[in-house]
Amino acid sequence: MSKPTMRIRASFFDFLAPAETPQAIAAQARYLDDGVLTLHDGKIVSLEAWQEGHHRQSSELIDLRGRLIVPGFVDSHIHYPQTEMIGAFGEQLLEWLNTYTFPVESQYHCADYAASMSDFFLQQLLSNGTTTALVFGTVHPQSVDALFSAAEQRQMRLIAGKVMMDRNAPDYLIESAAESYRQTRELIQRWHGRGRLSYALTPRFAPTSSAELLAAVQALREEFPDVWLHTHLSENQDEVAWVKALFPERRGYLDVYHHHQLTGRRSVFAHCIHLEEEEWQCLHDTDSAIAFCPTSNLFLGSGLFNLSRSWQQGVKIGLGTDVGAGTTFNMLQTLGEAYKVAQLQQYKLSACEAFYHATLGGARALDLDAVIGNFAAGKEADFVVIDPAVSPLQQLRSANSKDIWERLFVLMTLGDDRNIAQTWVNGQCAWRWEGA
Ligand code: GUN
Ligand code: ZN
Repeated sequence: MSKPTMRIRASFFDFLAPAETPQAIAAQARYLDDGVLTLHDGKIVSLEAWQEGHHRQSSELIDLRGRLIVPGFVDSHIHYPQTEMIGAFGEQLLEWLNTYTFPVESQYHCADYAASMSDFFLQQLLSNGTTTALVFGTVHPQSVDALFSAAEQRQMRLIAGKVMMDRNAPDYLIESAAESYRQTRELIQRWHGRGRLSYALTPRFAPTSSAELLAAVQALREEFPDVWLHTHLSENQDEVAWVKALFPERRGYLDVYHHHQLTGRRSVFAHCIHLEEEEWQCLHDTDSAIAFCPTSNLFLGSGLFNLSRSWQQGVKIGLGTDVGAGTTFNMLQTLGEAYKVAQLQQYKLSACEAFYHATLGGARALDLDAVIGNFAAGKEADFVVIDPAVSPLQQLRSANSKDIWERLFVLMTLGDDRNIAQTWVNGQCAWRWEGA
């Protein structure tokens, strides 16, 4: 049944089109201090400046003046089964996986457990303003069935996949390459392209993949060329050295994937901190994307992602929270940490650029910019209603901000989930702050 036309009056901020350089982003930014967004049947009809004549139109009008509405945040790399182990003390990547991650992920063989954690996880995304994410499940197909079912109920646009791994992990999480192929194939057939859901082939990373498993991933990609590919790349120096020892016949870490044709427009590689020259070039040449995960990279002591280099090289990036190595679901806090990572490398991450990566830029990195990411007519109506100042400190700082850029920068420096007043998915309010 078609939903009625609805209008929302508020301030709005988005980007009209993708940009190829950081300098070009501001020219694409649109800010309407007093605007009206018209929605019909889950889609954006228009965004216009408010005029008094709008009062006379008959469709429902929701008055959210004082609030700032931006496109729903896009989280380009996150692990839903790691929600419960966020903030695990003391280890860097490889020890962290063995000590904390693998035991926690073993619980997802239980479908009921996976269902209850899927609900919790999606509520976390929505209460933080994230409407789309590229998500790791566990090796268990039931983990992905549970997540997709929960996302379908909420009509969310989500990309996810079952972890594929056949070595260098505990026995209780290992599968054969043949089994991984079969289970993944079934999941693709069940979920890929169903409503707003899409499937990502998800080999965990090179060290847990044999050449046979990578060949199975390649076969699936050939069979289903429009599925996504989601994995980790060059996160930690010990990991990079291990990959070189495991795959001496390859030119480097990325070549382990590229050799099996796993690079490409719908390939998203998380981290990419310790890339070599030719790996940057390969990511560019194959139109692959990077998920920049600042809170995770700082928390695990992995290193500093070179954002400036990704622009110079023309490699698309999105922002990832990478929960549970990342320490927050909140994109405002993630932007604040991205700013600090850039500062440590003498790069100034403006609020304009940061919000671009969190919205349209992230959508483009996931090859979803034709359907989400801004308020263009015909796009799916996923957006966040932000309360610009929710604490005395935010109120003080916001009141002395001279323009929208400064207000956005205050949000990414001081903001958190308290600033997320409402989250709308597919033209309907899917989450609202109690008392808002
Ligand atoms: N590399 C392989 N698996 C993982 C994981 O679960 N988290 C992170 N951050 N890196 C990984
Ligand atoms: Zn990760």
